[in-house]
Amino acid sequence: MTMKSQAADQVVSNSGPVSVGFWIGDPSETNFSPIDSEAIRFSIRQSTRVVFDSRAQRIGLAGEGEVLSNEPANGLKNGEQSYPLLGILPPLYPEWLGDRGFQETHGVRFAYVGGAMARGIGSAKLVIELGKMGALGMFGSAGLSPEVIEEALTEISSALDPAGLSWGSNLIHSPNEPALENEIVELYLRLGVRRVSASAYMGLTPAIVRYACSGLSRSEDGSVQRRNHVFAKISREEVASHFLSPAPAKILDQLVAEQKLTAQEAEIAAGVPLAEDIIVESDSGGHTDNRPLNALFPAIMILRDRLVKEYGYDRPIRLGAAGSLGTPISVAAAYALGAAFVLIGTVHQAAVESGVSDSSRALLAQAQIADVAMTASADMFELGVKVQVLQRGTMMAVRGNQLYDLYSRYDSIDEIPADQRANIEKNIFRSSLEEIWQQTIEFFNRTDPKQIDKANKNPKHKMALIFRWYIGSSSQWPIIGDMSRQVDYQLWCGPAMGAFNRWVAGSFLEAPEKRTVQQIALNLLEGAAHVTRAQQLRTFGLAMAQDVLEFSPTVLRI
Ligand SMILES: Cc1cc2nc3c(=O)[nH]c(=O)nc-3n(C[C@H](O)[C@H](O)[C@H](O)COP(=O)(O)O)c2cc1C
Repeated sequence: MTMKSQAADQVVSNSGPVSVGFWIGDPSETNFSPIDSEAIRFSIRQSTRVVFDSRAQRIGLAGEGEVLSNEPANGLKNGEQSYPLLGILPPLYPEWLGDRGFQETHGVRFAYVGGAMARGIGSAKLVIELGKMGALGMFGSAGLSPEVIEEALTEISSALDPAGLSWGSNLIHSPNEPALENEIVELYLRLGVRRVSASAYMGLTPAIVRYACSGLSRSEDGSVQRRNHVFAKISREEVASHFLSPAPAKILDQLVAEQKLTAQEAEIAAGVPLAEDIIVESDSGGHTDNRPLNALFPAIMILRDRLVKEYGYDRPIRLGAAGSLGTPISVAAAYALGAAFVLIGTVHQAAVESGVSDSSRALLAQAQIADVAMTASADMFELGVKVQVLQRGTMMAVRGNQLYDLYSRYDSIDEIPADQRANIEKNIFRSSLEEIWQQTIEFFNRTDPKQIDKANKNPKHKMALIFRWYIGSSSQWPIIGDMSRQVDYQLWCGPAMGAFNRWVAGSFLEAPEKRTVQQIALNLLEGAAHVTRAQQLRTFGLAMAQDVLEFSPTVLRI
């Protein structure tokens, strides 16, 4: 068909409904009222016929009946009615959302990922439960020692590997601790971790390149096989391009020289992207650039398409969507944007399996959309990097910003005016700054003594270390559930939490103790299929009731 005749066809189809055949059956099987939520619930798992009532000029749905290409020559049977058929929609299962290639590559049932959440908040239990339902969970290894990580990954692999279920773990870039990043990669290679979610990278390091390229091989037909899969989390185009390009030759050469990659692995690596799953992260809990998904996702898609052409890759690169996803409508919208998979963080933190305390879950359950704020981060405090946290029920956001403000204004603890110093000692530290400094010395003498030498020479650095005591401790208190410090809980949290709470209000998922990660995930997916079905029907011109997109959570079976 030429372009010209295609355009002409479009004009014809815009001029009114075009039938593809006829539906014949009992009129009680038809529904010409505006489609409501109940009708969608009914239609979702079966093929659905859309019919046109030409007399009343209405479009509706038809159930049991016969479908013919022409009206029956010998007329209709008694009581039967015939309507032009506009289309038949196949059933729509939650398993069919996203890219089928994602499920095939990663051996999962759903194109649904549980994002890594630091310090084991994305716990082994959470990853196991996601794995068992056929989703992909990423263990939250950041901030944990290699010993603790190994224990958790062993627990996950013994629960999921025998059943052939998939899982992954976080590989976080540690600019100040390259040795730690190398150690984690060594651990992952030794344990046979097949999927990592790589985050906080601004550029590439030998460690991530080594992980991604270890085990690259060619099968007999010449196609490339990957043993290790990198899910690269990005929120900027320039970072995305590192992962969408082949690994830099310089790093590959270095790794071959150090015998960390074979010459064949390096040769294959030069022709494939470093990562074939990209997590496009919009406004989220924790570290975030606060970009809206609607703006970011299409931009990354254009970049992906350009680089795929430029490098002439013959394999797909999947883009997943993350950030602010906490309701069926937003999950459906992410798939509609073209996301091969969705990734959820904040809302999983509220699940009973997450690594936070019950008192933290109770706070999260009260959050509304606007109850989040950006505040100082512990890891990059001096650079003014912020994280998104829960604001309702805790003062941490305000206090973190107050400390950063003092840090920017003064060059040492001694310069802080006496009344302000007394205020933070009383309310934030609940101790003298001298006492906190002694604790800080003890901590760094054990972990990184260079910090103390530096602080002794540079009073501003000393102030940073003291202030980081609060920011660091405030992320530990919600995990251990220190009620005496509930007012200082630092809970990373994005606007998805408030949206989720609003959605589940009045349903069984309202109660924090009922929020299992499987029920959260299954309901988000079922609801997203519901919304997608409603949108499909809308494009046929069916009248829609206002509640059509409503999907109230119900207990779902796997
Ligand atoms: C409590 C919490 C801890 C997180 N820790 C990490 C982490 O250690 N590494 C990481 O890559 N992402 C981390 N994230 C980000 C999530 O993996 C995910 O990308 C993000 O939460 C998705 O956006 P959402 O919060 O709007 O769902 C964390 C998020 C939360 C809420």
